[in-house]
Amino acid sequence: MFAHRGLTGCRAGCFLLLVVALLGCSAASMPSDRPTRLSDAAVAFAGVAPTPPMGWDTWNSYGCTIDAGIVERAADAMVSTGMRDAGYRYVIVDDCWFATQRAENGALQGDPVRFPDGMAALADYVHARGLKFGIYESPNAQTCAQLGGTYPGNTGSLGHERLDADTFAAWGVDYLKYDWCSTESDLTAQVGAFTRMRDALRATGRPIVYSINPNSGVVQTPPGSRYDWSGIATMWRTTNDLHPGWELDAGETQGQGVREVLDATCPLVGRQGPDHWLDPDMLVVGVPGTPGTPYPGLTPAEQRTNLGMWAMLSAPLIAGNPLTFTSAATANLLTDAGVIAVDQDPLAAPAEAIPGTDEKAWRRTLSDGSIVVALINRDDVAGRITVPRTALALSDSKNYVAQNLWDGRSTPLDHEIAAEVAAHDTVLLRISG
Ligand code: GLA
Repeated sequence: MFAHRGLTGCRAGCFLLLVVALLGCSAASMPSDRPTRLSDAAVAFAGVAPTPPMGWDTWNSYGCTIDAGIVERAADAMVSTGMRDAGYRYVIVDDCWFATQRAENGALQGDPVRFPDGMAALADYVHARGLKFGIYESPNAQTCAQLGGTYPGNTGSLGHERLDADTFAAWGVDYLKYDWCSTESDLTAQVGAFTRMRDALRATGRPIVYSINPNSGVVQTPPGSRYDWSGIATMWRTTNDLHPGWELDAGETQGQGVREVLDATCPLVGRQGPDHWLDPDMLVVGVPGTPGTPYPGLTPAEQRTNLGMWAMLSAPLIAGNPLTFTSAATANLLTDAGVIAVDQDPLAAPAEAIPGTDEKAWRRTLSDGSIVVALINRDDVAGRITVPRTALALSDSKNYVAQNLWDGRSTPLDHEIAAEVAAHDTVLLRISG
């Protein structure tokens, strides 16, 4: 699935990433860094996503080999593994679901062999399990698989926006992933195309989460990191595709690993909030990698960093592991109630790098007044991370308890936080008075 798309080593992109990383993860550290807002609308769709959307998407494990049975079994597994009850609600059918030709009236249709009962029937199946239904399209002539030549046809939404939005609404779609998929990345054209579908979705009257990726195919710095898309979409991708590895060293316009996506996304915190979320791409927890490549699959420590830091960033949690053979360890991690509560905290306060910690320690305030501290070790060897209590902005006169969100253990907070953190691992502590 994770086609190695010309990973040509570190060039200009690495320098830029380094500069971006040095800017810091604290919104307070970059007041002059406000991005250009691309729309006058406050948010694209008020009320569709008061907290970051959670779900599961076909792409990372199945790519173009999807069919109705896979999606149905995934929906069943969302229920049986406890993912639905943990908060994962959207079942998203990514690229390659459609027939390669539109119907006579111009409407999109599911591939007749792989989705013989049609997409509305599949949406019904998903809805009957207490889940919501998502689907994929592109604003250009071709979807990304079509552009890349791995799927035939030209069935992007270009010129069909109203009809496609109406079709999706009639099928019961609750979430649209709309993926740029073109090397033509003129900003005016992007804003026009993404706004056209926003307006078409609005006109249906159906509440639909609108998830966009303005980066795919684009050869410059990803537009998802350069602009504020909050008036156009419910969530927007900040980088190109996240692969199940730590570091691909391929440059920002190619696929990236967990560390690189974090380095690109953390300087953007503060741009997100209810109904407008920064999307550092789908989780790769439990997604099989390719041995011998820079994306061999995540170690358990890297999986904790993927989920834990996405939660710190209030990122959408869209899993992509093969649900029908989710291991107990993957299921336990993905359904960790304490970490999901951090992600879904309604305050959605931006995480801030704690000054003086070289961005190894982050802090975020939750709506009940407690704080979460993340200790992230980006190094390849284990290391000790310490944070003095005075750096946490806590009351001097109160006693606090620090609960480790991975093992549930609580210890009284002393004059400092100190932890031995394994390579690429993240320790999450919830500190309450
Ligand atoms: C792009 C997106 C991926 C996936 C594929 C489908 O690469 O970023 O998430 O949707 O297209 O072709």
